[in-house]
Amino acid sequence: MAKPQTKKSLETFNQELAEVHMTGQWIYEDLLNRAIGGPRPRGDAYLWPWKMVQEKLIEACDVLEESFTARRSVLFGNPGLNDNATTHTLLMGIQMIKPGEVAWAHRHTLAAIRFVVKGDGKVFTVVDGEKCPMEPYDLILTPQWTWHDHQNPTKESAIWVDALDVPFLLGLNQPFYEPYPGNKVQAVREKRSDHLQQRTGLIRPTWEKAKQENFPLRYPWKDIEPQLLALADQPGSPYDGVALEYVNPMTGGRTLRTLSCWIQLLRPGEHTKKHRHTSSAAYFVVSGEGTTIVGDKALEWNKHDCFAVPNWAWHEHVNRSKSEEAILFSVNDIPIVEAFGLYREEPENSLHTMQTPQVPAIVR
Ligand SMILES: [Fe+2]
Ligand SMILES: [Fe+2]
Repeated sequence: MAKPQTKKSLETFNQELAEVHMTGQWIYEDLLNRAIGGPRPRGDAYLWPWKMVQEKLIEACDVLEESFTARRSVLFGNPGLNDNATTHTLLMGIQMIKPGEVAWAHRHTLAAIRFVVKGDGKVFTVVDGEKCPMEPYDLILTPQWTWHDHQNPTKESAIWVDALDVPFLLGLNQPFYEPYPGNKVQAVREKRSDHLQQRTGLIRPTWEKAKQENFPLRYPWKDIEPQLLALADQPGSPYDGVALEYVNPMTGGRTLRTLSCWIQLLRPGEHTKKHRHTSSAAYFVVSGEGTTIVGDKALEWNKHDCFAVPNWAWHEHVNRSKSEEAILFSVNDIPIVEAFGLYREEPENSLHTMQTPQVPAIVR
């Protein structure tokens, strides 16, 4: 008579499966249960104060006299994330180039934006042959696979915020990189009429097929600030105040395919309502002082501080001043989550839901 076999335990079976690189789906039950109500925010709400960042940048100039890639950036690593990531999709940092320096030309599939902290019209970034002057608070795009180099022919250091989609691109294993062949700087389009930026305004050539995306683009602060102030008396978003998006002028859509930029004004004393969304964001304080409450953490921010708000974390913004406006620049990953139909917001969707102002009543 055959001896009855002892029943194998589930634990033993799980181990045996693991040895042959397989997993029983039953172990994910717990994971799914934890996703009821949405994900846990990935990474921490965290703030990098400008005073500390500036000191480190100045130190970086001594320690790294000239970097081999001529990139003197300090990057913000979220303490709740393992890799070089400010949020789980975005990487923000601050870059400084000394008088006379050139940050060498290259291109990569990472998309990047620059938001100028200190510069003037003589400091410039060249993107695909187009010179983009870098005045304070200008936004300059270096979209994926565009050649870019930075040059500072002035007597003062230039500083700007960098933000890139590094963690997202690396997660997809899509990094491609290429140094500019044979030279530190790229060829420049000499004729103004050859500039693609000449084709993104109110009028466009009738004989050309218009380029829709990934063109060099500069959003000068001298144009943006008056538009922001002009809308400051509108009700705005109850969750974000007067928040405007830097749109792609050719499509009316997001700033870039993987990231989008906002400029946001909080009126004196304004305290926005609490919300959360599946997108994450990294902020740079242009002016003012305030508090962003994320979960149970209060990020007290002042001029030029940077901070991160992870996805699906409840947050609200407060302008602490009763007399001055506060202005925040931010970069978010809305285009990524939206592309896959994954954008969600609680307690309600606040994006593009309100009516534009109505036609005035007929005067009789
Ligand atoms: Fe780059
Ligand atoms: Fe938000």
